[in-house]
Amino acid sequence: MTGQMEIAERISSISVSSTMKVAADAEKLRSEGVDVVDFGAGEPDFPTPDNIKQAAIRALDQNFTKYTAAGGTADLKKAICERHTADFGTDYKPAECIVSVGGKHVIFNLTQALIYPGDEVVIPVPFWVTYKDVVNYAGGKCAFVASDEGNGFTITAQMIESALTPKTRMIMINSPSNPSGAVLDRQEFEKILHLCVKRGIYLLTDECYCHFLYEGSPFSIASAKGAKDNVLVAGTMSKTYAMTGWRIGFALSPAPIIVAMTKLQSHSTSNPVSIAQKAALEALTGPQDSVAAMLAEYSKRRKYTLDRLRAIPGVRCAEPGGAFYAYPNISAAFKQGIKDTMDFSVKLLERKHVAVVPGEAFGTNEHVRISYATSMEQLDKGLTRLHEFMTTFEQRA
Ligand SMILES: Cc1ncc(COP(=O)(O)O)c(C=O)c1O
Repeated sequence: MTGQMEIAERISSISVSSTMKVAADAEKLRSEGVDVVDFGAGEPDFPTPDNIKQAAIRALDQNFTKYTAAGGTADLKKAICERHTADFGTDYKPAECIVSVGGKHVIFNLTQALIYPGDEVVIPVPFWVTYKDVVNYAGGKCAFVASDEGNGFTITAQMIESALTPKTRMIMINSPSNPSGAVLDRQEFEKILHLCVKRGIYLLTDECYCHFLYEGSPFSIASAKGAKDNVLVAGTMSKTYAMTGWRIGFALSPAPIIVAMTKLQSHSTSNPVSIAQKAALEALTGPQDSVAAMLAEYSKRRKYTLDRLRAIPGVRCAEPGGAFYAYPNISAAFKQGIKDTMDFSVKLLERKHVAVVPGEAFGTNEHVRISYATSMEQLDKGLTRLHEFMTTFEQRA
């Protein structure tokens, strides 16, 4: 029996996310009837807009319930390209587009299609948990680049350049960032693109939160002159349209890469859910006002969360320029017997019933991630509890 139970080695190259423990403990407490405030969830608290839900219902009524092309329907690919053109001025064609089962699937497929064993992938820290594991799973090596907390976790082209080696195959940028909310300056983004063009490496731009920007207008590096051969756009419907459960993401990239990804997808998931594709089509071609309405709400919550966090003794918090996360530095608690960010998160949940995500999941040692994609009432309750939690240390000191 032992031999049969041995798990393939490639699985040991990926780790169980350390976000899972706090989420599982929070769920357990909730099932016991405890009033848990959940700042852990990385998803909009808004329902999917009604026009999108109605499109899915119509798809069901019309029996649009069969297989589609493995890489997504022709009309959805066309709509993705047209929306990207309308929003950012790019000029992708359907042959340069694939629809996958969420943005995570897109990033998995892109790394599987492009990374050779030993290739290096440059990733700014803090990073979204999945990047590290998909690179490792593809046999690549992560080259992490620390960002500057004092500057709101921003990075510069110079910081990226210092991590480049002859083995670098790809740079992964997520702006606005999960978990810090940091936004990469447009000029620096363009300089990073030029580094990629000069050296013949890929620039993967994860545009998951690109519509949730608090200052200036959203842009895509794919619209820069001469970008298309090197840029890989990873997009998703999940956050922009409050569609996390529908599982629709997309890539825009040179056509041969789309062909490779489609081949891989045709032997794994095959097509994304047919009904969800119809819903995504409506999201992209129908009214866009729900996106602005959500952004306006996040904007209020961001200000409230920042003000409350900065009023807590010992807490520092950089201003997030986008997305819906705050990434406060809670290291003051380490002087009071808290070991690390995981210990902080576990004790905060045990003692005050507030769930946050420990920064170690994102590659930093002094922070926790707070999602403000939740109601003002929950924000008030949870931030009051966090304040009390931190103040306990102050009083003991
Ligand atoms: C930075 C980032 N990229 C991509 C994704 C993928 O989202 P999905 O797979 O739901 O499309 C997420 C989800 O949390 C994310 O935070």
